[in-house]
Formats: sequence, structure tokens, C-alpha cells
Amino acid sequence: MHRNDNVIRCAAGSAGPKLDAAEPAGVRMRSMEQGTVAMKQSEVSTIDSQALRYALGRFASGITVISGMVDNMPTGFTCQSFYSVSLNPPLVSFCVMKTSKSWPGIRLSRRFTVNVLAEEQQAVSDAFAKSGSEKGKHVDWATDQGGKAVIAKTLMWLDCSLHSEHELGDHFMIIGKVEEMSPVDWDRQRNPLIYFRGQYRQLLGDNA
Ligand SMILES: Cc1cc2nc3c(=O)[nH]c(=O)nc-3n(C[C@H](O)[C@H](O)[C@H](O)COP(=O)(O)O)c2cc1C
Repeated sequence: MHRNDNVIRCAAGSAGPKLDAAEPAGVRMRSMEQGTVAMKQSEVSTIDSQALRYALGRFASGITVISGMVDNMPTGFTCQSFYSVSLNPPLVSFCVMKTSKSWPGIRLSRRFTVNVLAEEQQAVSDAFAKSGSEKGKHVDWATDQGGKAVIAKTLMWLDCSLHSEHELGDHFMIIGKVEEMSPVDWDRQRNPLIYFRGQYRQLLGDNA
């Protein structure tokens, strides 16, 4: 293992960091196939990603679909990492994997919709948890919402402009400014779809 001010270099596939003194500091140098990667020392962690994923699975949440219009077609992806940031100004956020196929197109439009799924919408969540250009075809869209990519029969929706985007690890953190939201008479009498420990869950008892 070789350390300097900024980087530790690791051999791809090895159990741990390996000495490689030939490269300049602070530069992400070669692909995994070529044998080495460089990381800033501050980004190196002993936390195992799978163990972290398992631990984070203990955090129960609702499920959203982040949707948008790409080439005049609605598309999107299932997203658990949604949260509110600020009421005034009205800001919300979520994180999207850098490998997302749908986000680059939605980003271009600088507009997206957060659709909060109801407990009957597990199939919608499953449909948008896959990559592919056809997935929007298997979902009921609310056609009376002025061309926005609003999914029908959700708990609520927020239509947002893209406020800012931040590159963090293997995700982008997106901040959206809420420009419009579901009307008060939008279908509220449903329970949320919940995700906990890798499975869909439902609230027990009366609905909201
Ligand atoms: C319950 C659940 C929650 C998810 N949450 C996120 C998330 O917060 N961010 C993300 O980027 N992907 C999340 N995903 C994975 C994406 O939905 C999945 O990778 C999808 O295929 C992405 O589609 P795309 O490549 O067309 O963008 C989640 C999947 C499921 C089933």
C-alpha cells in the first residue's frame, strides 16, 4: 500500500490497497481492466458496501417514481431516497445512481415529477425499477395534467424544476424546486406503499 497526501491506489480485484508509486497524486488514472484505480484518501472506507446496504434496509420509507418527459414520452425510475429539504423556498431532493439510464434524458428537460406510490401500486414500482425505454407503457398516466409525467392513482405528486445537481460517490444528489403539486382533491384516501428490509410492506389498520 502506498499513501501520499491525496490518494491510495488499489489493484483491481485485490483484497486491499497495493503499492503503485508510478502515478501522479490525485488523478483517477486507469480503468479497472488496466489494473489500478485511485481514490482520494478521504473517500477510502473500510465499510463493506453490501453490509451497508443491509443495514440501510432497516430504514423504512415510502416509494416514489421520479418521472419526466423524454422525447415526448413519459419515463422514470423507482426511487426510495426522496426527502423534503425546505418549505420556503419549496425544495425536495433524491439521489440517483450514476448508472441510471432514464435520468440523463429527464435532466435535459430540467423538469421532473415526484410520484408518491400508494400501496396498490407495487406493480408500478416494479415496472420502474427496471431499465428500458418501454417501461412507461405499462403504467396509467394522468392525461389531464398538462403534459406532465404524472402517474395516476398515487398518494400525491410534486412537479419540480431542476434546482441543482451534486456528484457524490456513485450517485448524483438532485435538488428540485417544487413548481406545482397535486390538487387537494387528488386521491388522498389511500395508504402508502412502504419498503423495509428489501420487501414491500403495508400499513396495518385504517387508511389515512
Ligand atoms: C424500492 C426501490 C427503491 C429504489 N431507490 C432508488 C433510488 O433512490 N435511487 C436510484 O438511483 N435507484 C433506486 N432504485 C433502483 C432503480 O429504480 C433501478 O436501478 C432502475 O432500473 C433505474 O432505471 P433507469 O436505469 O431506467 O433509470 C430503487 C429500486 C427499488 C426497487
